[in-house]
Amino acid sequence: MLQVEGIKRNKSKFRIELSISAWESEDEVRITLFIRDVTERMVAENMLIHYNFRLENLRTIDRAILSAQSPQAIAHAVLKHLKQLMPLARASVSLYDFGVNKIEIIAESWDEEGNLLGDQDTFLLMEQYPINQTLLEGKLLRVDNIKDLPKQSQMVQALSEHGIQSFMRAPLLTQDGLLGVLNLGAGNPKTFTSEHEEIAREVADSLAVALQQAKLFEQIEVGRVQLQLLSRKLVNVQETERRHLALELHDEIGQILTGLKYTIEMCLRWPDKIDPANLVESEKLVDELITCIQEISLRLRPTVLDDLGLLPALLWHFGRYSTQTGVEVEFKHRGLKQRFTPQLETTSYRIVQEGLTNIARHAKVKEVTVQVTNAENHLTIQIRDEGSGFDPESSFSSRESSGLIGMRERALMVGGQLIVESTPGLGCLIKAELPLKDRIERRSRPR
Ligand SMILES: Nc1ncnc2c1ncn2[C@@H]1O[C@H](COP(=O)(O)OP(=O)(O)OP(=O)(O)O)[C@@H](O)[C@H]1O
Ligand SMILES: [Mg+2]
Repeated sequence: MLQVEGIKRNKSKFRIELSISAWESEDEVRITLFIRDVTERMVAENMLIHYNFRLENLRTIDRAILSAQSPQAIAHAVLKHLKQLMPLARASVSLYDFGVNKIEIIAESWDEEGNLLGDQDTFLLMEQYPINQTLLEGKLLRVDNIKDLPKQSQMVQALSEHGIQSFMRAPLLTQDGLLGVLNLGAGNPKTFTSEHEEIAREVADSLAVALQQAKLFEQIEVGRVQLQLLSRKLVNVQETERRHLALELHDEIGQILTGLKYTIEMCLRWPDKIDPANLVESEKLVDELITCIQEISLRLRPTVLDDLGLLPALLWHFGRYSTQTGVEVEFKHRGLKQRFTPQLETTSYRIVQEGLTNIARHAKVKEVTVQVTNAENHLTIQIRDEGSGFDPESSFSSRESSGLIGMRERALMVGGQLIVESTPGLGCLIKAELPLKDRIERRSRPR
């Protein structure tokens, strides 16, 4: 049997199968030639091979995703294998951080030899690269020719620079919404087919689940390390405070009491020779003692917070703070004349206290604005300075300090959140949003 392939005038392929059989009878030899058009079978076979290839590659991608250790490694694995499945000139995986309006490119394209580029993550601002509505709706976006798009858009300019003529963008969707995008670009117009769309969607779905899990895992790990740091720091703080208290009790209070005891002893020994000056001195010592004990007690916890509430406690703290540090506080507030839960009052007070301490210690300014607003079921605290500024990300991950982490933990513990916006040289804004009703408590309560 012989199979012969040819090309029709319309350029499509065809295949025929030839078989020859011969037999001999008494007076003749018969030869039969069978010709069969097997083009359809050929097409089906080719499709099978194609689908097997696609399946095999998708399986490889899934395996690579499972064995990858970090979001970057997962995205790299996907891009590396996707190249086998479609004619790609460039590709990337970007993640959206809606909290800070940033896009993080965690894996990007290949060089001439097929190696992936970009060991370091790149960050873009969302305002420069706005998210397409189609993606927000969770649908894949396919553009067959970038000439159909407005030329002035920053994205189109970036694509042209990289020689991309057509592209697909598949949303990475999770239960929480849009996590990021799988970007696939080709060097020619009209490159992508509906099959490519299908593959992109399938890969994006696996990628989204894997990235979400990796992200959660990273968050848990970061949280674990921070918690460890915080508890270590808390123990240190406690020890320092105890040492301080012990010194103060010994040096200050101890001395005053010794002086007092001496005066009392004198009076007892020579009651008829009591000198009124000694009594005046004793009274002075008792006054000093009272002030000293009040000072220690206030530092531990201002009673005004428990007795009178957040607003008087903050006003009292600002007065003391300005006297001690020389930093003036401009205070704006709304809706604070009521009492809040003790946990919320303490949380708010401690956040403001740490924010102001940081400003006095690090910001190099002479004034700060504090704004506390009670509106829409939230207590919103803003502490703003126009001082030296810093990189919040590295400060949060620092093993040396725990003030900022502690502030954030306190906010989280009452079901709220704390955002720190700062750039070196451009001051700092700390914003805490604390729900008036404790969300955690409400959630765990049976209906
Ligand atoms: N308002 C600010 N202006 C400038 N830098 C700041 C400000 N707030 C914080 N920082 C920077 O962030 C770092 C971390 O702050 P954080 O409060 O966590 O620690 P710390 O103040 O150094 O020590 P502590 O753990 O005792 O609070 C600081 O060391 C400082 O460099
Ligand atoms: Mg601090």
